[in-house]
Amino acid sequence: MTSHNTKTRCEIGMVGLGIMGQNLLLNMADHGFVVAGYDKDKDKVDSLLKEAKEQQVYGATTVKEFIKLLRTPRAIMLLIPAGKPVDIVINELIPHLQSGDLIIDAGNSHFIDTNNREQRLQEKGILFLGVGVSGGEEGARHGPSIMPGGSKEAYERVRLILEAVSANVNGDHCVTYLGAGSVGHYVKMVHNGIEYGIMQLIAETYDLMKRGLGLSDDQLHDVYQSWNDSALNSYLIEITSHIFSKNDEKTSKKLIDEISSVAKQNGTGMWTSQSAMELQVPVPIIDLAVSMRDLSVLVKERKQASDLYVRPIPFLKVDHAVFLNQLKSALYIGMIAVYAQGMALLAVASDHYHYHLDLEAVARIWRGGCIIRAKLLEEIMDAFRLNNTLPNLLLAKNFSQTIMAQQEDLRLVISQASTLGVPIPTLMVTLAYLDAYRSIWLPANLIQAQRDYFGAHTYERIDAQGSFHTEWEKDKPS
Ligand code: 6PG
Repeated sequence: MTSHNTKTRCEIGMVGLGIMGQNLLLNMADHGFVVAGYDKDKDKVDSLLKEAKEQQVYGATTVKEFIKLLRTPRAIMLLIPAGKPVDIVINELIPHLQSGDLIIDAGNSHFIDTNNREQRLQEKGILFLGVGVSGGEEGARHGPSIMPGGSKEAYERVRLILEAVSANVNGDHCVTYLGAGSVGHYVKMVHNGIEYGIMQLIAETYDLMKRGLGLSDDQLHDVYQSWNDSALNSYLIEITSHIFSKNDEKTSKKLIDEISSVAKQNGTGMWTSQSAMELQVPVPIIDLAVSMRDLSVLVKERKQASDLYVRPIPFLKVDHAVFLNQLKSALYIGMIAVYAQGMALLAVASDHYHYHLDLEAVARIWRGGCIIRAKLLEEIMDAFRLNNTLPNLLLAKNFSQTIMAQQEDLRLVISQASTLGVPIPTLMVTLAYLDAYRSIWLPANLIQAQRDYFGAHTYERIDAQGSFHTEWEKDKPS
């Protein structure tokens, strides 16, 4: 619909008609909602209206026009790049808004920014929701996973729209009210941290199969496709199998081999690591996934180092079928561990920030639409249904049994990789995390002693309560 009917009062408006904003708005229109899109870029507005066909979609290139299209109290969603642009748009909207209007930030905003924005808007009587949306372009168009946080009253106002557009798994909407404040953006941040972890874990299995076994892209496609028919079934494994079969239009070779080995980032994985460090929750798979992207960017240095540390990587002399099964188990344990780390962070953040998060509900809304959707999430849901205060998924019986049965495969894969010289840091740290977590004794007694030795930081004893200090240099044997 291209004309502006002044009697029309749209149920929701979207600021930002990039591909995500446009697709999500069209998704809403598909479900019968009357919607308006606003972008300063006329081409984007035209493109929205062209795509809209018979749906009730209106467009505007100025805030004034846009505001006129909206029913009051207004509901305005922002799908724009995180950071400054969000504040710029909010500032632009404020003079046109009234008390009771609602702004929904559906971008990847940092949760601290979300807290600040909510407070600022509250002072003006404007409601605010911080909403994580996952699923990329396709998800936005046909059903994303939506992670809303903020005022319950505000959520109720747009609940039917969000439920209608979200993905659906076995009759469950992949959206639910997660709680007050910035919880939606916090959960989305951790979602992305887990996303980084899974992507890096998969990339390491690719490296081992390519450089360790010498598999071709077609063979890699077949392996990932078969893994996707197993317990590893997930969106990221599925797209990985497709990637290996894609030809490059320019060279007709496989596209994957024409792509440089440099992985950039928008920061959400790093934020997850930063927050985990602050809350003192170990998430080493996510930390390393971020570090490996950082390392990949050091192209010049990597080139210099490759000349300094020459050490050829021979092919593994193993039965391929046996090794591939071991690798599959190793990846599965890695996937369990990265969800465990992400969920453990959510549990602590929930206490710390008073989010009152229901982790079973988080697993439920991640089962469809989002980038980390996976079969494994069914089991994760079960684990939290049985015990909603579970501090770590590794303590759940189903996961401990799986890991106990498959851990030798992970150990074998790691020893093979280290002998070859193929870097698999997140698989390695999966094992180190597991071995440390299951260890009743750790060499941290030595760290206590060292701290007390050089800094009089005191230490705790195994046989008495309290803090103790020793003059370590006294009576030192010469
Ligand atoms: C999603 C994605 C999405 C985006 C990431 C990519 O859930 O749909 O996570 O939010 O693709 O921001 O992050 P990087 O650019 O940091 O890899």
